[in-house]
Amino acid sequence: MKKENIYILGIESSCDDTSAAVLCNDEILSNVVADQKIHTEYGGVVPELASRAHQQNIVPVVNQAIERAGISKDQLSAIAFTRGPGLMGSLLVGTSFAKSLAFGLDIPLIDVNHMQAHILAHFIEEEDHQKPPFPFLAMTISGGHTQIVKVTSYFEMEVLGETIDDAVGEAYDKSGKILGLGYPAGPEIDRRAQLGNPKAYKFTKPKVDGLNFSFSGLKTAILYFAQRETKVNPNFVEENLNDICASIQYTIVGILMDKLKLAVKQTGIKHIAIGGGVSANSGIRKALKEAEKKHGWTTYIPKFEYTTDNAAMIAIVGYLKYLEKDFSDFDVMATARLKI
Ligand code: KG4
Ligand code: ZN
Repeated sequence: MKKENIYILGIESSCDDTSAAVLCNDEILSNVVADQKIHTEYGGVVPELASRAHQQNIVPVVNQAIERAGISKDQLSAIAFTRGPGLMGSLLVGTSFAKSLAFGLDIPLIDVNHMQAHILAHFIEEEDHQKPPFPFLAMTISGGHTQIVKVTSYFEMEVLGETIDDAVGEAYDKSGKILGLGYPAGPEIDRRAQLGNPKAYKFTKPKVDGLNFSFSGLKTAILYFAQRETKVNPNFVEENLNDICASIQYTIVGILMDKLKLAVKQTGIKHIAIGGGVSANSGIRKALKEAEKKHGWTTYIPKFEYTTDNAAMIAIVGYLKYLEKDFSDFDVMATARLKI
């Protein structure tokens, strides 16, 4: 007998992207993301503006996701939404919307932890993407997160280390701001880094015990370095931008790789799954490929649209929880500081 298809609508609104996706079992039928350009002029996400933009976007984004999936909303089996962590105002928009729609359609509601979703995005069925075997190490690197997690099964996860201050993407964006680059600066630093000399300037790596990270010292070091050098040559930054970017990237990739190597040493696990917007970075990708050859690691990076904030990753967690009948009560609350 053919098994009945399960259709999950996923909703993501934890930061500055309003996203909705529809999935049939573990395959994505649609994944719509409305990013919010409004924050560019402020050089970072403004929470109040983000929640207002979510309110404007959520209805058209959900409608589009259902339309593109080619199903009707009456076919939906359940609705999954991001409960946290994230910006409270932003989370509330997705949470309230998901509750109302699930209530109206009389279908189960499933709350999802955003950090677990970044990791479980690896289990979306995709041609050319191999799913990591358990146990594996997951490193989530983005504008909001920097975490190394030991993943024993879909829902057994242990955070081994995380940032104690800025996230790695934030380090890119704040360094870029000092150098006069636009927001977000990560992609531009990455592009220039590939044209420059990574050993032109030396920035010291932070000393943080264990598997935790720190990136705020690097930003300060870059600020002082730029101030010092421009006193001598006012055009220093413009004249040496590619080398500066390459040196920053070299330092950041070094920090990430040092911690990953330590995590592999401590756990003996050599399957490494990467997620978050910074996984697009050419430096980290190259370093991971080298580690495959040098240390026998196997590394996994999902399709780009599933690494940045998106609802497909929320929907896949929804599907996995649906199979377990792990549903939420309707009084479930958005939680800004939700732990894995
Ligand atoms: O996952 P994401 O889209 O949003 C969240 O922060 O949750 O990640 C965005 C972050 C930004 O900080 C951006 O500068 C950084 O990822 N980023 C990169 C690259 N592409 C995006 N950083 C370094 N190299 C890149 N190629
Ligand atoms: Zn995220």
